[in-house]
Amino acid sequence: MPLLPLLPLGTPWTTGATRVALLGSGELGKEVAIALARLGVEVIAIDRYDGAPAQQVAHSALTVDMSDARELAAAIRSCGAQVVVPEIEALATDALEAVEAEGVRVVPTARAARLTMDREGIRRLAAEELGLPTSPYVFASSPAELRAGAEEVGLPCVVKPVMSSSGHGQSVVRSFDELDAAWRHAAEDGRVDRGRVIVEGLVRFDTEITLLTVRSRDALTGATVTSFCEPIGHRQAGGDYVDSWQPQALPAAALERAREVAGRITEALGGWGVFGVELFICGQEVLFSEVSPRPHDTGMVTMASQRLSEFELHARALLGLPVDTALRSPGASAVIKSPGASAPGQGARFDGVAEALAVPGAEARLFGKPEAHEGRRLGVAVAEGVSVEEARQRAARAAQSIRVLL
Ligand SMILES: Nc1ncnc2c1ncn2[C@@H]1O[C@H](COP(=O)(O)OP(=O)(O)O)[C@@H](O)[C@H]1O
Ligand SMILES: [Mg+2]
Repeated sequence: MPLLPLLPLGTPWTTGATRVALLGSGELGKEVAIALARLGVEVIAIDRYDGAPAQQVAHSALTVDMSDARELAAAIRSCGAQVVVPEIEALATDALEAVEAEGVRVVPTARAARLTMDREGIRRLAAEELGLPTSPYVFASSPAELRAGAEEVGLPCVVKPVMSSSGHGQSVVRSFDELDAAWRHAAEDGRVDRGRVIVEGLVRFDTEITLLTVRSRDALTGATVTSFCEPIGHRQAGGDYVDSWQPQALPAAALERAREVAGRITEALGGWGVFGVELFICGQEVLFSEVSPRPHDTGMVTMASQRLSEFELHARALLGLPVDTALRSPGASAVIKSPGASAPGQGARFDGVAEALAVPGAEARLFGKPEAHEGRRLGVAVAEGVSVEEARQRAARAAQSIRVLL
């Protein structure tokens, strides 16, 4: 692997600026923008709608259709970014490959963005090329193939569109007569209807973790090194995360295996940055589930629990700066979701923030999303504590104190 060059840091809004374009400007991008801005980096926040969270804190904002390769490549070129940081999966990855070939650094790599936007790309890399253990799976392009796939992996099984995130279009199927509904749900609620799904055997895991894995430049040798954060435990409802905590204790052999799996998948994707490696822990066994080549939503807990949050780690790693994945204290996060839709032009308002912040060790992040709709994540409470239990109670109390007014 050739050594990647260190980027010199400049001054925003001058000809010598170090410019980073964020592709996707949600709550995770907002924190990355803040972390980059602290290092004097000029951030251009791109999204498909105006007023997205990261656009509110970046040096400039662009609104473009990021699924259109020509439009996306033109936006990246026009803002003069030396680095492009994808924040979401749904991007025209052809544009990333084109600008990468022109010398723009895509974080971590354009190939990683392409492989992980489609469940088929990343699953085949992990299971078939690297031989990592996963749930049993089959890809299907018709109801008949889905039926055959479900027979092969066995019931219960999970059906997901190949392109989707946050649980969209996903169903757990417990009997064969539910398969048609699962097929339709995948077609209707996926990100783009490709008419293709993955059907996976339902894993009865003991714990599900995110292992934040950082690939960064070693300050002494210039070589790329891999560091691991403490495992993050989390709970999902309907495929979307509800709360998370760190550290999640694991048997020593499982932790070692988890690091080995995360090390191998991230090495295969390459580049520098934070990766959220999702793993199922079954006793001493570790199954690879999926990976985000970027900070992970369950990793928002690190704003309370680590010396450097996953966003600061990402900012440092992508600039070629050294990282420190040390835990500061046990921590937890609990999400704040909207109970309904906001009135046009008004946005959500929040009551009870004073009570939330009066909870010892608690903090809140309100994302500033211009529109609320039912179930949309509008904020998160994070808390530290002497133990994970205390941190979880505090984060839950703080999140419950905040009422969304519509
Ligand atoms: N094969 C499976 N067995 C058990 N649970 C699963 C399986 N696949 C997904 N899940 C559950 O659904 C959640 C979301 O699925 P995931 O594949 O991570 O999709 P997304 O890309 O939407 O995050 C997982 O975190 C896990 O809780
Ligand atoms: Mg996931």
